[in-house]
Amino acid sequence: MVDAVTLSSAVYDTKQWEDFLKTRYGPYKSSKETKHFYEDIKAEKTHPTVVAFLQENHEKQTYDYVQGMKEKYGKLDQGEFSIWEMLMRLDEIKVNSRGGDVQLQQKEHAFQMAESMRREGQPRWLIMTALIHDLGKYLYLLGEKQWTVVGEIFPVGCQFSKEIAYPHFFDNNPDSKNEKFNTKLGIYKPHCGLENVSFSFGHDEYMYMVCKNLGLPKETLYILRYHSFYSCLLEGDYTYLLNDNDIEMMKWVKVFLQYDLFSFTEPLPVNLDELKPFYDELIAEYFPEKIRW
Ligand SMILES: [Fe+2]
Ligand SMILES: [Fe+2]
Repeated sequence: MVDAVTLSSAVYDTKQWEDFLKTRYGPYKSSKETKHFYEDIKAEKTHPTVVAFLQENHEKQTYDYVQGMKEKYGKLDQGEFSIWEMLMRLDEIKVNSRGGDVQLQQKEHAFQMAESMRREGQPRWLIMTALIHDLGKYLYLLGEKQWTVVGEIFPVGCQFSKEIAYPHFFDNNPDSKNEKFNTKLGIYKPHCGLENVSFSFGHDEYMYMVCKNLGLPKETLYILRYHSFYSCLLEGDYTYLLNDNDIEMMKWVKVFLQYDLFSFTEPLPVNLDELKPFYDELIAEYFPEKIRW
């Protein structure tokens, strides 16, 4: 078992990260840049509608709520579609994807990110992960509201971190008054590992559930599930819940985030007809024709 200090530095030590990324993956955006957009949100430089959705999110994501949503969507009885079909369906969704000032179509985000990885020679499994990582936003099309589809995710069942944007909104979350849940560790054991922790429900957890029995790389599953856990990934909080496996896997989430948070500045693809053969092949490498949603 690793101690908390080692964990903290492994997760948060920028220098260590940058060295790791540089030797292994070549050109990328620095962690500082990645953090910038998040600091904007935290500095409340965001649009009122985004603030309103974050408020609703912080107030309503309780431990019990999350269990109900996992139960509901874990059945995977919301239709059968191929990955490509779902990518095309993303066009029906238009939301503020970050900060409020950037309106990005979901399909463009997926291809922009995947193409940017491709140009930089990232491995095929990571490109595939980029392509599918936000497909859980299908929840919008199933009628779910923004507060339970997007936004940063956080553990429920223990104290909410002050590093989460707009932490004061948690004052009105019933779990903040529940003695079982409102201590640092709440219902969890130190370093129990994130797989044993319940998180606020959104597209991340949903897509993880859709994919978890399909034999995908464990790194892919981890990225799908935790790519919005910013208070830990960008602020180094919650390290007392992490185990060795989390530390190992988080390296990949951080590589991934360099693209997720910045690829919207990359040139827009896309002549989809030109790209389709490559992505058809990539999808077929990892997925059956149709999967359950
Ligand atoms: Fe996402
Ligand atoms: Fe994304």
